[in-house]
Amino acid sequence: MMRYANVLGTGGYLPEEIRTNEHISQTVDTSDSWIYERTGIKSRRIAGANETASSMAEIAARQAINTAQISPDEIDLIIVATGTPDRVYPSTACLLQHRLGIKNCIAFDVQAACSGAIYGLSIADQYIKSGAVKNVLIVGSEICSRIVDWSDRGTCILFGDGAGAVLLGSSDKAGVLSTHIYSDGGYEDMLYCPNPQAATEANKHELGTISMRGNEVFKMAVNTLERIVDETLEANNMEKSDVDWLVPHQANIRIIAATAKKLKMSMDQVIVTLEEQGNTSSASVLLALHQGVSDGRIQRGQTVLLEAFGAGFTWGSALIKY
Ligand code: COA
Repeated sequence: MMRYANVLGTGGYLPEEIRTNEHISQTVDTSDSWIYERTGIKSRRIAGANETASSMAEIAARQAINTAQISPDEIDLIIVATGTPDRVYPSTACLLQHRLGIKNCIAFDVQAACSGAIYGLSIADQYIKSGAVKNVLIVGSEICSRIVDWSDRGTCILFGDGAGAVLLGSSDKAGVLSTHIYSDGGYEDMLYCPNPQAATEANKHELGTISMRGNEVFKMAVNTLERIVDETLEANNMEKSDVDWLVPHQANIRIIAATAKKLKMSMDQVIVTLEEQGNTSSASVLLALHQGVSDGRIQRGQTVLLEAFGAGFTWGSALIKY
């Protein structure tokens, strides 16, 4: 019998503090209209001083677990995607496992920058399809505000904090139809965040903040996402019109609009959260999925295309029958 990974529940968490474009305009030379026109972002959430990737992940995860109506003990595998882990080790997945009171399951982190949740979905799908496990919790959790250079107007306007979660369970009815993930490590210079603790003589002057060549990243993202969308549809013998919802990584509204146009989808079929969340890196796709599901737009039986692009570069997609 063919096994599929089905979405049993979703969850999301956004920290309380709202940082608007106006707030940012008070400290760097920018404006609300520039940011909104170029990115589609109006505000983003900022984690509190006592919050961590694992504390935010726990809230999103519990919501997904409650919706799925399973007990935490039934989770076989926890994957956390984060670029802002609580500690170098233990992994944030292990810290989350403990917070959820689970023992003896598999738990590890995935580092694929903004594509982390799609990587997590792909790994989970392989584990479930093989029959190795039944239930997988995938969480993307990020405190981007702590690795952003708040004096760099080219990057500080883009990022936000939050956590998104999805619980997948094994079933014989169609769920995840296919996943497609890729990396090309030749683009480190275009988008990176140093680890000052592991610096060499050569790069010990670098701060632990994000550096990005925004315009070049933008073009790469648009071209790469257009290709992966084609590949995903071809792999499933589907037409553009078969896709009900696009759930994209939330980096820039113009990147999202280009992908929607390629799919001949109207923006009414796209879940957009970045206006009030900014780019929450590996949390963004799962937060958007949670938004679409919880406000009733994404309905059972519909076909949903998730995609992301991030540092590395890494990129990927997942086609899901919800
Ligand atoms: N406010 C006002 N001006 C700004 C600005 C800001 N916040 N940020 C940059 N500028 C200026 C630049 O200094 C430049 O000025 P110059 O022409 O005098 O040199 C001008 O705006 C154009 O800069 P550019 O970088 O070409 O703008 P852009 O249209 O590419 O927009 C981004 C910048 C960052 C919004 C856009 O490139 C982007 O979103 N890139 C993709 C980022 C992304 O997706 N990253 C994550 C991948 S997961």
